Amino acid sequence: MNEPIPDQLRAAILMEALPYIRSYQGAKVVIKYGGHAMVDPALQEALALDVALLRFVGVNPVVVHGGGPQINALLTKLGLESHFVEGLRYTDEPTLDVARMVLGGRIAKDIASRLSLAGAPALALTGQDGLLIEATRKKLPQPQGVELDIGLVGEPTKVNAPLLTHLIEGGIIPVISPIGVDLNGQSYNINADAAAAAVAEALQAARLILLTDVPGVLGKDGQLINRLTAADISALHAEKVIAGGMLPKLTACLNSLKGGCRGAAIIDGRVPHAVLLELLTERGYGTEVVL
Ligand SMILES: Nc1ncnc2c1ncn2[C@@H]1O[C@H](COP(=O)(O)OP(=O)(O)OP(=O)(O)O)[C@@H](O)[C@H]1O
Ligand SMILES: [Mg+2]
Repeated sequence: MNEPIPDQLRAAILMEALPYIRSYQGAKVVIKYGGHAMVDPALQEALALDVALLRFVGVNPVVVHGGGPQINALLTKLGLESHFVEGLRYTDEPTLDVARMVLGGRIAKDIASRLSLAGAPALALTGQDGLLIEATRKKLPQPQGVELDIGLVGEPTKVNAPLLTHLIEGGIIPVISPIGVDLNGQSYNINADAAAAAVAEALQAARLILLTDVPGVLGKDGQLINRLTAADISALHAEKVIAGGMLPKLTACLNSLKGGCRGAAIIDGRVPHAVLLELLTERGYGTEVVL
């Protein structure tokens, strides 16, 4: 059985949060919940409670979610294959359909209902709703000047920030699926980290928090790196220490910071209440990215 926590310690733990609650008062914080950190229902519940708590202490959370493993699972059931290029999913028409159904049809709705049940009303939206995320087809230039074709992968060009602000001011937490649309009505699959960065930039958020399935960015020997600059990131990329799904995450952090978001971190979404520990305690958590 767990030892009871002495009252003074309990009080000290609560007080540790005070400076953080004060500094994030009224601030917008974009939380990206990765598909890999989302498979455990207990963690999903803990995250919903964290987001609800933030909302009740006066922070304005905005949730963006991924869904890699869940999209892979449905593709496999349908006999379709998954391919990744530099951490991005090759997206043909059938894959786009599956991504739209899984992300917008199930994952976002589940997150929104969990949050709403925790007392924090939330609304699920894809980038197609209210032209929330306008996008263009993403180009992936290569050193030799050739371009890799990754299909219907989108790059956000514009985020409807007034729509989000309207929801936030109405006390509603937006839960955003990373699907974009262009002005011809073509929809696109957007990497969720890139979508979260675009949202954080458009809202001039106080912080972008990317939750994933590793403790943060790991160095050559597998140790956690607490703080990374843009120069460190280029070096680690060149050494191929950073690869796969971590590439879009770091690009997202740098882009959001360049665009005016005031802080960015990559943290372990497998740790229950990681968001609270990151945001409201002295220690912080995971890898902080700085320009
Ligand atoms: N240097 C590194 N440190 C940590 N993880 C790394 C590194 N290089 C590559 N990775 C990979 O990046 C992965 C995280 O990105 P991934 O896209 O798989 O998950 P996610 O973004 O959390 O989920 P989703 O894509 O579903 O939103 C890790 O599981 C790890 O395999
Ligand atoms: Mg990813």
